[in-house]
Amino acid sequence: MGVIQSFDAIVLGAGAAGLMCAMEAGKRGRRVALIEHAERVGKKILISGGGRCNFTNLHCRPENFLSANPHFCKSALARYTPADFIRLIEKHRIPYHEKTLGQLFCDRSARDVTALLEQDCGAAGVTTLLNTRISGVRRTTDFIVTTTGGAELRAPALVVATGGLSIPKMGATGFGYQLARQFGLTIRECRPALVPLTFGTQDCRRYAPLAGVSAEVAASIGKRQFREKMLFTHRGLSGPAILQISSYWNNPQPLAIDLAPGLDATSVLRDSNAARNAAAAKSAFRAILPIRLADCWLDAHTPPDWTNRSLTSLERQLHHWEIVPGGTEGYEKAEVTAGGVDTDELSAKTMESRRVPGLFFIGEVVDVTGHLGGFNFQWAWASGYSAGQSL
Ligand code: FDA
Repeated sequence: MGVIQSFDAIVLGAGAAGLMCAMEAGKRGRRVALIEHAERVGKKILISGGGRCNFTNLHCRPENFLSANPHFCKSALARYTPADFIRLIEKHRIPYHEKTLGQLFCDRSARDVTALLEQDCGAAGVTTLLNTRISGVRRTTDFIVTTTGGAELRAPALVVATGGLSIPKMGATGFGYQLARQFGLTIRECRPALVPLTFGTQDCRRYAPLAGVSAEVAASIGKRQFREKMLFTHRGLSGPAILQISSYWNNPQPLAIDLAPGLDATSVLRDSNAARNAAAAKSAFRAILPIRLADCWLDAHTPPDWTNRSLTSLERQLHHWEIVPGGTEGYEKAEVTAGGVDTDELSAKTMESRRVPGLFFIGEVVDVTGHLGGFNFQWAWASGYSAGQSL
């Protein structure tokens, strides 16, 4: 029989949500154990935002999140706002800047954010157990977590903050979903989100030579549209516009891309007395698109003639490139996992299970997925804070 330790709450997973939750509960005098199977806390925080961690977004609104229940996130997001996290960052004198569109990044390194959370967890008396593998969880009157080392931890409250399936090589596991199922909770189907899309075979042959080219585009599915940069890769499309729209994509839906939003490539050909020919078209397209894209696009869409009708059709194609992706780059490249623990199962105020009192789910494991731009961390902070206040 191993050692038995008792706590007021056990938090599984020392990522963004788990650290925030443990810290808040600790500050309120709760004895908290934070269990992490990796050798350090917050590994995803460290690689986020290109190493600078886009830790929140000034314009965070419920509309920036996908969920089967779009209202669920409202309560937690109102309880803990971007201003609250900024206050924490400023209290620790961490220098930061707004990059674009309200996205806040560390000036120095994402390490500033993990150090802050580790320090405040330490100050709040949180017991952090690293390199600790969980072999089982059961419930008597308390939750009992058994580790592979033979230790038993028990507490009346268990918080699952083990994240989603994205980037398995960073330690992502389906553990949180398994645990939810074990306790009878419903899971909304999971899929990679904020993920590059791949071309089908034909498009791959046609557009792979454009790898490395980027352009500002408007990518849309139905009424949902994102106007940001798009990047051609060897296998498909990436860049912020594509990552954003990928969260809304269901195979084999088409997506529409406006390659030159707000611009008119063919007006010079239509309106002037200038020559109408392939060379003139090339120069008109090169004036508004990256050269390689302009040339490749015209090669692939050479009009039969240079009449007004053909030019109008050429212009329309430029603003409405309908493409059916072959698939996504999968969890290896996805920033987040969409889907997860059904929000109908949880209290929006506390993140506690409605069926199993004392069991909480926070962060990415829940069916709430943010847009690109600091929203996913804001959800992790907000849901972690909300649970931390009720432990
Ligand atoms: P998170 O994944 O952070 O933490 C879960 C923790 O649980 C991990 O430490 C994991 O090791 C641990 N764990 C898993 N299984 C376990 C088990 N069985 N036992 C014990 N521990 C276990 N978001 C954003 O807002 N701004 C950004 O800049 C970025 N950038 C970014 C870049 C990249 C490359 C990725 C992959 C993702 C981002 N994100 C992002 C998304 C963001 O990282 C993500 O939404 C949050 O980290 C989710 O926080 P969680 O705490 O829910 O999970």
